[in-house]
Amino acid sequence: MTSQTPFLLTGVTGGLGAKILEDMLNVHKIDPSKIIATSRSDSNRSKYESRGLHFRVADYKDPSTLDSAFKNVKELLFMSSSERDNTTRNREHLNVIEAAKKNGVGRVWYVSLAFGGWTDSSKIGFQQAHYETERLLAQSGLEFVNLRAGIYSDAFPLFLNWYPESERVLFPDVDPPVERGQIAFTTRDELGEGMATLLVKGFGAFPSITPKTEKKIVLLTSQSTDSMVDLVAAIDKARPSKPKLPIEYLSPQDWIATSADGDIGGKGTPWFQARLVFVEGVCKGDAEVIDPALEVLLGRKPETGVQAVERLVREAGGEYRWHQNHINGDWSGLRAGK
Ligand SMILES: NC(=O)c1ccc[n+]([C@@H]2O[C@H](COP(=O)([O-])OP(=O)(O)OC[C@H]3O[C@@H](n4cnc5c(N)ncnc54)[C@H](OP(=O)(O)O)[C@@H]3O)[C@@H](O)[C@H]2O)c1
Repeated sequence: MTSQTPFLLTGVTGGLGAKILEDMLNVHKIDPSKIIATSRSDSNRSKYESRGLHFRVADYKDPSTLDSAFKNVKELLFMSSSERDNTTRNREHLNVIEAAKKNGVGRVWYVSLAFGGWTDSSKIGFQQAHYETERLLAQSGLEFVNLRAGIYSDAFPLFLNWYPESERVLFPDVDPPVERGQIAFTTRDELGEGMATLLVKGFGAFPSITPKTEKKIVLLTSQSTDSMVDLVAAIDKARPSKPKLPIEYLSPQDWIATSADGDIGGKGTPWFQARLVFVEGVCKGDAEVIDPALEVLLGRKPETGVQAVERLVREAGGEYRWHQNHINGDWSGLRAGK
């Protein structure tokens, strides 16, 4: 009988998965031969095989690749797809779950998102696909864990629609107001660090961390919350030589129209319409729930949103950008906080 490889990691070419892989190798000293790295593109093979890792192609859109990739795998790190259309994303994720089941994967660790805290109450569009994937996992008969990842602090330019050249920040005038919307912003690197530790050491090493609800949720967040207004102040603090960014509040419809008109990243009206639902959701508390699990895994307090924003802007000399050409842009160069 062929022996199982302990870990198969999807998403390793991306920011979160790369951090998980590097920590598994460099911090936890996992032998590279115990890890299968995957990507949709075979062109990434040599990058991983040259380091002694196994490599397999795994494309969630193509079940035949998943069928080959998931053979003899114990722990599968299932990174959520970067596909934005929920119907397509749900189909892709169903392909992953079906292939994991068919090939007898030992346990699936799905990287979900923290909107709604422990519940499925958030109305934010892209969160619905996460809820659906979690539900499918719970029904699948597979061993699984849903790692609900805190909202990336690193992605703050997208949340504020802020660019280094912005002269103001616009928010929609919603109820409850934006300054009341508390978000447990969490850095991508600390999420990766925590996930790597949990994958390698398992729940047995952390008795206080127990997956909760029938969806087996582990909520990974920082230990405090900040509002989007707090983050604007953090940008100002990191750029003392620049004038303070004025914040302007517009009616939701004017906010959509004004933001979409000449957006530097080329994001259009539908993007801002969806973003309004996001803002309304976080103002109602969709991202405010915190949990100590990440602090336990890191062995220290995670960085807060305000601390992270100030650091990121300072480190980039004010030129920090993040995925802002979301809709029209070329994604290839926009990963990893560029
Ligand atoms: N917590 C948050 O606030 C937050 C923010 C943004 C995104 N996310 C979610 O977290 C995930 C990881 O974040 P990240 O920052 O690491 O994203 P990223 O840098 O864009 O990387 C995405 C990774 O997912 C893989 N991937 C995407 N679609 C795939 C598919 N259809 N089949 C197989 N692999 C696929 C990519 O692999 P290849 O390109 O090599 O195939 C890549 O390694 C994202 O996909 C997104 O769902 C979370």
